[in-house]
Amino acid sequence: MRYVADGSQPRVGLCSPLGRPWPDRLLLGNLLHGSLGILHYNLPGADMLCPVCLGGIMRLNLGCGSKKISGWVNVDKVAACSPDQMVDLEKFPWPWPDNSVEAVSLSHVLEHLGGETKIYLGIIKELYRVCRDRAKIFIAVPHPRHDDFLTDPTHVRAITPEGLRMFSQSANREWIAGGFANTPLGLYIGVDFAIDFVNAIPDEPWKGRFERKEISLADLQNAARKYNNVMREFRVVMHPIKQTTAEVECDQLSSPHRRRPQAEDQH
Ligand SMILES: C[S@@+](CC[C@H](N)C(=O)[O-])C[C@H]1O[C@@H](n2cnc3c(N)ncnc32)[C@H](O)[C@@H]1O
Repeated sequence: MRYVADGSQPRVGLCSPLGRPWPDRLLLGNLLHGSLGILHYNLPGADMLCPVCLGGIMRLNLGCGSKKISGWVNVDKVAACSPDQMVDLEKFPWPWPDNSVEAVSLSHVLEHLGGETKIYLGIIKELYRVCRDRAKIFIAVPHPRHDDFLTDPTHVRAITPEGLRMFSQSANREWIAGGFANTPLGLYIGVDFAIDFVNAIPDEPWKGRFERKEISLADLQNAARKYNNVMREFRVVMHPIKQTTAEVECDQLSSPHRRRPQAEDQH
């Protein structure tokens, strides 16, 4: 699979542990617009994607557990982890208004949600509803072919970048035009997400072999397709694509079929 961004310039970069953006030369432009699909994870601090650097309105840290993010609304269904807001994300509707959220963190949470397909799709729809256009959604999940995924009995669903791409309407349209059998889920459930960034984090001994240049990136990717426990985790950044009210009004004015009534229409 080629991981290609949707053409818009990504605003997410790598951040140092202190939350400072890395210099431009370390931003992931090439990766986001290229075909590697794997981050050069050996850059210092490169595994720290830092949502705190984003400015704006409400940010949700969903399924926060004990990892709270300062300045975010930390949400969990379990009181024992003292969340800011106790919410069961499998119950709908979620308690936040439409278009009210500019960033969401789902760190090791999605694989716990929606064992039943209907519930999982409901979660994706709620995520789309509460996010404003182009909100940033940071997702980390265990790689489904890593023992970490198999070990936890509360993991109910394998999450992959390819699976998340099923909610991209442009991908859906390509599949339909190409006659592919993939279910166009974005079109079916009325959501549209674009993937900005995919990072697969290797586990040892593969990580060390790659860092020592004993194996190439292609070797690592091939191994990940063939064997278990090569990649430990996926990290994905994606955003919803929504038509804003202003755009809808603009469309209505410019469309000959949907324009507002004019004075001459009375005659
Ligand atoms: C593996 S922990 C991850 C915690 C934290 N995000 C992290 O990265 O360390 C998963 C968290 O998701 C929460 N969770 C699971 N199902 C949930 C649900 N239906 N609604 C809200 N939170 C849920 C769990 O209570 C738990 O705190």
